[in-house]
Amino acid sequence: MKVAVLGAAGGIGQALSLLLKLNLPAGTDLALYDLAPVTPGVAVDLSHIPTAVKITGFGKEDLDKALIGADIVMIPAGMPRKPGMDRSDLFNINAGVVKTLAEAIVVNCPKALVGVITNPVNTTVAIAAEVFKKAGTYDPKRLFGVTTLDVIRAETFVAELKGKNPEEIIVPVIGGHSGTTILPLLSQVKDVAFTDEEVSSLTYRIQNAGTEVVEAKAGGGSATLSMGQAAARFCVSLIKGLQGEKVTEYAYVEGQGEHARFFAQPIVLGKNGVEALLPIGELSAYEQKAMNDMLGTLKADITLGEEFVANAN
Ligand code: NAD
Ligand code: LMR
Repeated sequence: MKVAVLGAAGGIGQALSLLLKLNLPAGTDLALYDLAPVTPGVAVDLSHIPTAVKITGFGKEDLDKALIGADIVMIPAGMPRKPGMDRSDLFNINAGVVKTLAEAIVVNCPKALVGVITNPVNTTVAIAAEVFKKAGTYDPKRLFGVTTLDVIRAETFVAELKGKNPEEIIVPVIGGHSGTTILPLLSQVKDVAFTDEEVSSLTYRIQNAGTEVVEAKAGGGSATLSMGQAAARFCVSLIKGLQGEKVTEYAYVEGQGEHARFFAQPIVLGKNGVEALLPIGELSAYEQKAMNDMLGTLKADITLGEEFVANAN
């Protein structure tokens, strides 16, 4: 098994690579790629940790070598937010980054499972999909926008509020990954009751948790450590799926299109990526209204990505 991390020298990239060095199955090759000159050094540093995961660092010119034969590609490459910015403000820079990396995936590992972390996820996943489609390699079962951070945040905040163990709380989070498109389904949390006020304040906090970190870091970037953990969890689930285990996760994927072309929803992972799309279940009236209200934004975010690739040379 080979896993490639693109953007491996960044805040998320380094945290993710550390967690993968510790948690991937013995014998896995872990390829670290980034434009930053420090990348080979990050790889040497991690290589001193005594696990049977083989780390190799690849510099700016070696994207093809990093990707060749990869089974899984995780993409945290690109610019993070500063206070006052929305995720959509990252489009101008990150759209091109994801397009370039997706084009290299087409050439070197067209069958890889690809997890896109780069913001704005609602749009960058559509960009990757369109690049793959143009090249004739697109398989919707193999492309994921990583929204695991929304799920782990929701579980943490619910557990905090209700005095529970966060590891025993499951909170479905559907839709997309920005603002109101992030829709936690608190009505589906088992054995926990919420007042209307709690639903509204928790929903707001989960939707704005990224901004909470951006403001707390005061210009030093956005979530990296919690995102590293979220991405590592998702990547390990992808691996388990490839190994024949059936694992359920939430991710932003192209499903049946009943709400939007891409939609974060529960999925079962297996040997070919998405093995099954699971229903989102029953929504409360509050959640149904929130979903109806945000679909226009989500669809516009997706269209932006589709048009970016259509209009590119
Ligand atoms: P960072 O600036 O710390 O790291 C980004 C890294 O990407 C840098 O090392 C940079 O050299 C590298 N990079 C830039 N262009 C590249 C290219 N073409 N090829 C390879 N590497 C390239 O940023 P970060 O905090 O790690 O965040 C990375 C991205 O992840 C941002 O877009 C951020 O908004 C996003 N993010 C997403 C989620 C999510 O839930 N999906 C959560 C947090 C952050
Ligand atoms: C997050 O949710 O933390 C990320 O999408 C980063 C951001 O810009 O908020």
